[in-house]
Amino acid sequence: MKVNLHIVFFCWLIATGCNQSGRDHISGITTDEALMTTPVKDIHSYAEPSQAIMQHLNWQAEVDFDSSRIYAKASIRISKDPNAEVLLLDSKNLHIDSVKAGTGIVESPTEFTLSDPDEIMGSALEIKLPKEADWVHIYYRTTAGAEALQWLNPRQTAGKEHPFLFTQSQAILARSWIPLQDSPGIRFTYEATVKVPPDLLALMSAENPQQRNDQGVYHFEMKQPIPAYLMALAVGDVEFRSLGPRSGVYAEPALIDESAYEFAEIEQMISIAEKLYGPYRWERYDLIVLPPSFPFGGMENPRLTFATPTILAGDRSLTSLVAHELAHSWSGNLVTNATWEDFWLNEGFTVYFENRIMEALNGRDYSEMLALLALQDLKAEVKEMMGNQQGSDTHLKLDLTNRNPDDGVTTIAYDKGYFFLRWLEKKTGRAVWDQFLINYFQDNAFNSMTTEHFLRYLQKNLIEQQHINIYQDELEEWIYHSGLPESLPVPESTRFDAVDDDLENWLGSQRLPVTGQWSTHEWLHFIKSLPDDLDSTLVTELDNAFDLTNSSNAEIQAAWYLKAITFNYQNAYPAMAGFLEGVGRRKFLSPLYKALAETDAGKSFALEVYQRARPNYHFVSVSSIDGILGFDDE
Ligand code: BES
Ligand code: ZN
Repeated sequence: MKVNLHIVFFCWLIATGCNQSGRDHISGITTDEALMTTPVKDIHSYAEPSQAIMQHLNWQAEVDFDSSRIYAKASIRISKDPNAEVLLLDSKNLHIDSVKAGTGIVESPTEFTLSDPDEIMGSALEIKLPKEADWVHIYYRTTAGAEALQWLNPRQTAGKEHPFLFTQSQAILARSWIPLQDSPGIRFTYEATVKVPPDLLALMSAENPQQRNDQGVYHFEMKQPIPAYLMALAVGDVEFRSLGPRSGVYAEPALIDESAYEFAEIEQMISIAEKLYGPYRWERYDLIVLPPSFPFGGMENPRLTFATPTILAGDRSLTSLVAHELAHSWSGNLVTNATWEDFWLNEGFTVYFENRIMEALNGRDYSEMLALLALQDLKAEVKEMMGNQQGSDTHLKLDLTNRNPDDGVTTIAYDKGYFFLRWLEKKTGRAVWDQFLINYFQDNAFNSMTTEHFLRYLQKNLIEQQHINIYQDELEEWIYHSGLPESLPVPESTRFDAVDDDLENWLGSQRLPVTGQWSTHEWLHFIKSLPDDLDSTLVTELDNAFDLTNSSNAEIQAAWYLKAITFNYQNAYPAMAGFLEGVGRRKFLSPLYKALAETDAGKSFALEVYQRARPNYHFVSVSSIDGILGFDDE
């Protein structure tokens, strides 16, 4: 049975065929317009787009849970220089069965080579192109080295009955499940046909089904051109619940009610976002709640945000994450960082936009709490980096030569980026600044952006046109210098001031604060502000009063456990171990493992927990935590 599986599959591929027609207008853009700017050199891709560039992908795949492999055919339509003799694609740990090339629907075998694998970049797949070729077809399967994929057994899901598969392609892991030009500066449209076990639903970053069918075969179409890091697939026992005319949520049946409650504000967020920075260009906005091993809080896969279940707090207190992923529909998915060295253009703009959505939704006193929490994290990280000779990693524009783009995923891109934009807003005045941003998204839609291009655009369309007092050396300080500029804007939060007073009172008079009205954010501020040398009787008193150790809010848990490590508060350790084993979100895991690793006792506890937890984590988290604990698989 197993032996024949992929033979059966390839017959199925041939039977379903490929729609290789060209593409007409979609939402007012054409492929040619999307290619207006020739991509700049991307050091994290083998592609040579000036020779041959991909324009469209037709992906035919079968997802096989028995072998934890995807068997697939990737048909890629290209546009090439008439003299180009080869097409260069990125791949990593793929098993290539054969490659064909041709014009239109004719497929003929062609030569290909795979370069020696680089640990970060993978292998260049070089495909020989016949003179007139405009399509290539790669027959391949994924392997156990597919770093984007996480295959979950039923025990790792909420329902415990069905397996689950999800992808995480950003930054350069798309190449581990599809051979393609894996560079954020290269955009293509796609369609896909995916066969999965009939009791599961398949979803992609595309137009999605809302119901299962008996064949387990699903068709997808993404009409707007997107970069490879936004390719996404999820397969599992999930159902759909509508939340409004253009939004909804997918989740396992056990979580669908909770999820629908938590995300009920989504239509309102979309309207707010459109009012701020222009029309939503992706038609629908849906979310999927993934199993807890998802390594991120959220991932902005177009039309279908992937989200961690750790934001299901039951009180909508962590929905700024949804605002964030939604905001990426403009900053990131519409105007995309050209290379991973320009990553702050994706995340800094998105944190700024997220904050504006939350301000419009819940008021400025709410969004200022978010901004202040961000500032505290930022200051702590800058301090640490400056102390570790990583000063140049505090620049907004990064130098990632010979490095993994994952190294750039720090609060610098997010929060220094945010405060830079907030500083520009302050210098400019909100009305003029908002109009500038509307134009920015409009003028650069479906294109990529380098930091330098942004600075030129800013100079011409804001500073010169509106006569704003912003000087080149100030801009350069934000972008190319270490640390934080003196002019860093500081948020003001009376709600946090009140928490500070309560904390001071408690430490002075031992009267516990009255916390009935506190939001999650006030709690986070309170916990993070606890002095490191807090007396152990007070630690116990606090936990007895509020049971922080058994909080059902993952943000509060993570913040409290981090303090518990500092206090060596052993009562929290069993719950912390449960958290580390049950949750795979790297933002929570890394700081906890890092803090544990600082003492011998902590480190042996961490290693013991990690032994059990590691098989539950996605590659992204495993690779970070292996590093933190000096864990060697071999
Ligand atoms: N796009 C990022 C996640 C990401 C970044 C994945 C870089 C891989 C490489 C996503 O939008 C994100 O920022 N997620 C945050 C959410 C938060 C800042 C609200 C997360 O996962 O914590
Ligand atoms: Zn983001």
